[in-house]
Amino acid sequence: MKEDKNSTWFNVEYVPNDYIFPKEHRPQNLDLPVCDSIPVIDISKATNGHNQPVEDIITASQEFGFFQVINHGILEKTVIDAASVLKEFFDMPSKDKKEIVPYKKAYVYTSSTDFAKDGVHLWRENLKHPCHPLRECIGLWPDKPTRYQDAIAAYLEEIQKLSCTILEMISEGLGLETGYFNNTSEVQLLSSNLYPPCPNPTLTLGILPHQDPSLITILYQGNSTGLQVMKDGQWINVGANSNAFVVNIGNQLEIISNGKLRSIKHRVVTSTNGTRISIATFVNPSPDCIIEPAKNLVNELEPSRYTASRYKEYVDHNNAFGDYTVAIQNALRTGNKN
Ligand code: OGA
Ligand code: NI
Repeated sequence: MKEDKNSTWFNVEYVPNDYIFPKEHRPQNLDLPVCDSIPVIDISKATNGHNQPVEDIITASQEFGFFQVINHGILEKTVIDAASVLKEFFDMPSKDKKEIVPYKKAYVYTSSTDFAKDGVHLWRENLKHPCHPLRECIGLWPDKPTRYQDAIAAYLEEIQKLSCTILEMISEGLGLETGYFNNTSEVQLLSSNLYPPCPNPTLTLGILPHQDPSLITILYQGNSTGLQVMKDGQWINVGANSNAFVVNIGNQLEIISNGKLRSIKHRVVTSTNGTRISIATFVNPSPDCIIEPAKNLVNELEPSRYTASRYKEYVDHNNAFGDYTVAIQNALRTGNKN
């Protein structure tokens, strides 16, 4: 049975007080045109020899920390299936979404009403779960809607391949050895967001400004806008292209590249019309990897700019994925034993 839509938290005429950010955090440039300067790169043109997409990825990662990829080889159906099953998940009555059965399921769902940052709610709902190793994780995800596990597993298999392709292109572009990231990068976490229409987007935020603690993040945003990236002290809007994935450089790749590639601050603003659904997949180093600038990017002229740390220690010290990481990892370990 469908919940009465009128009872959802976002079906309001005015923004409730506990969703209104202090003035200094409110978005100010919402009527700027959508920026088409974040490069859209056709990665099917990667050929041996002169490799334009590799150059374009490196330039975009230096300049913006963001780029979009098209002709990535992932079937539209796989992507649409994943996005639509997530929409169905968010459309379910809240009691069905909230259910987390300890030791049997490992996912975290937060409605905006549960999640407040500095006392102010974000204008979004969020679902997160682990994805690695994929086969061991599938059974721990939501089982409603019934297609959820199959549709998301099919999507993640493709994202795993795409992440290897992109990381290989980046390692080539940085002059690292072939296969530098092989067997050390994992699509560890899926984080999907629903940003419903908001009566006054100048007062609210979908996600606060942040950098990603990943190697790279691969985001599907369909044809919705709302993602903004900091460029030279200004927020710029990322254009929507439903055939593309948005890729951004996370903190770990910034370290490995010795600062050559940049992990850039980004946020999500809301809109009065249309619902934004995003699927972020965090491609992270394996937990035991030592993250430090790659040896051949460090020399007398360019000394190491970062200290080394083991990825899992970095995650713990920085509480990088919030309490979520610990809760999920515990559930996953216990789940594996059963
Ligand atoms: C994230 C993120 C953007 C979006 O999850 O880290 O930046 O559009 N998401 O949801
Ligand atoms: Ni992010």
